[in-house]
Amino acid sequence: MGYSDDLILKDDGLVTPPIGEWGQIKYKLVSNYASVFAGSMKNRWDCRVYIDLFAGAGRARIKGTSKIVLTSPVLALKIPNPFDRYIFCELDGQQLGDLEKRVKIECPEIDPVYLQGDSNAMVEKILENIPKANVNFTVLTFCFVDPCRLENLRFSTIKALSQRFVDFLILIPSGMDALRNWEHYLGPDHHAVDDFLGNQDWRKIWKSSATRIRPDVFLTDQYGEQMRQLGYEYNDIRSTQEVRSTQKNLPLYRLAFFSRHDLGTRFWREVKKVSKRQRELEFPE
Ligand SMILES: C[S@@+](CC[C@H](N)C(=O)[O-])C[C@H]1O[C@@H](n2cnc3c(N)ncnc32)[C@H](O)[C@@H]1O
Repeated sequence: MGYSDDLILKDDGLVTPPIGEWGQIKYKLVSNYASVFAGSMKNRWDCRVYIDLFAGAGRARIKGTSKIVLTSPVLALKIPNPFDRYIFCELDGQQLGDLEKRVKIECPEIDPVYLQGDSNAMVEKILENIPKANVNFTVLTFCFVDPCRLENLRFSTIKALSQRFVDFLILIPSGMDALRNWEHYLGPDHHAVDDFLGNQDWRKIWKSSATRIRPDVFLTDQYGEQMRQLGYEYNDIRSTQEVRSTQKNLPLYRLAFFSRHDLGTRFWREVKKVSKRQRELEFPE
């Protein structure tokens, strides 16, 4: 697994959004998973596709420092056995344009598809850009889904993509959004959770559950249940990776992996273990 955050990057003058220090855990996981997935599937599938639904600009700056890091789309390009096709979606035209400039410098041999707009509204266009499989040509996709807030992602988007062979790594904004705004979302006029879960019954389930669990855990389990309805494996919250803020130790989000095949789930378990060991080596307690 190839992720390293030792790389010293100079400011290239392009958009470099600020992120919390904990973002590095997410980058380790997505980069390590992409690397294992693309490497292991190289000789088993004719075409391996990487989709970044919320791609960003390709670099970020750790808040309060001058440290610049590579972010998900560029990390997924810089793996030992790159995917056969990359699809990068981003709402913000400036960020997507700067990502394209960076890719041309960092990986000039790769020619990704860039789609600007709301990923939810562009799902048909995304599907058109995934090569069609047939009996002589197999296609497997890994889709990284990294929204800032619940309202950025609709379950209908994941459902539409799941018509193909797609494994997902989804950031569930369970702490930074759901936990903080739960009372607000419980009100009947707020649709962010309804759309995120693709289900309007969650309020009834929440109100009727005999044992009170934390809203962030509830949301993640409900998401897992919805994915199960699409044929994906979800056992329980322990299969997800919680990410907390470094100083105050507050829950921020959970990274949840979904595959319809046991092999993908085994890779994810391994990647979580390896990424944890890497973190412990870098930040010994
Ligand atoms: C949390 S950032 C993630 C960026 C990147 N994946 C990374 O590794 O840092 C979320 C990105 O999604 C973009 N975004 C927000 N809503 C979106 C939408 N509906 N469709 C596509 N992109 C969106 C934002 O502009 C932002 O760049």
